[in-house]
Amino acid sequence: MLASGSGSNLQALLETPAVRPHIALVVSDRPGARALERAIEHGVRTETVLWADSDDRDSFSMAVADVVEASGAKGVVLAGFMRILGPTFIARFPDRILNIHPSILPAFPGAHAVEAALAHGVAVSGVTVHIVDEGVDTGPIVAQVPVGVDPDDTVKTLHARIQRVEHRVYPDVVTAFVEGRIEVVDRKVVLR
Ligand code: GRF
Repeated sequence: MLASGSGSNLQALLETPAVRPHIALVVSDRPGARALERAIEHGVRTETVLWADSDDRDSFSMAVADVVEASGAKGVVLAGFMRILGPTFIARFPDRILNIHPSILPAFPGAHAVEAALAHGVAVSGVTVHIVDEGVDTGPIVAQVPVGVDPDDTVKTLHARIQRVEHRVYPDVVTAFVEGRIEVVDRKVVLR
């Protein structure tokens, strides 16, 4: 698993019995990330790969791919990993990288999805879990769940409601992922 921030999705996965034994390693680009502490609390090995130690996106992506591969992991689950991984990373784990995003894609891709949805005035936003391809939040969609926007929502209140949904949806999808039930056929996800 790759995480940069608080790691609340990581926590939900660590607490999912069908998933926990499959988490070989948690990698972060931020040494102080709460996500790393959560992994350690659950006895999961951690690694930090600093952006500053790499010359560019490609060498950073290779460094992350190397530690993932060395752990024996066959797939990658992103949970609030705030660096874009280059095409060379994606090519090493084809259709084997999952991401969770706080909007109904393709609306509001990128790092500020909750702010963008509120600024646009949408009545409904939500959660998307998708396979990572070479674009930013463009890959085949595995699951989507809508979350209604209240008139007095702030980024904080809406994101909190979205995250409660994330913590239900990601464990279900990652369970299917580790059980080998997610396949991509013609750029569409087939869930078995
Ligand atoms: C989540 O809201 C997720 O949708 C986005 O980053 C956030 C990570 O939160 N990709 P956390 O670190 O899992 O609490």
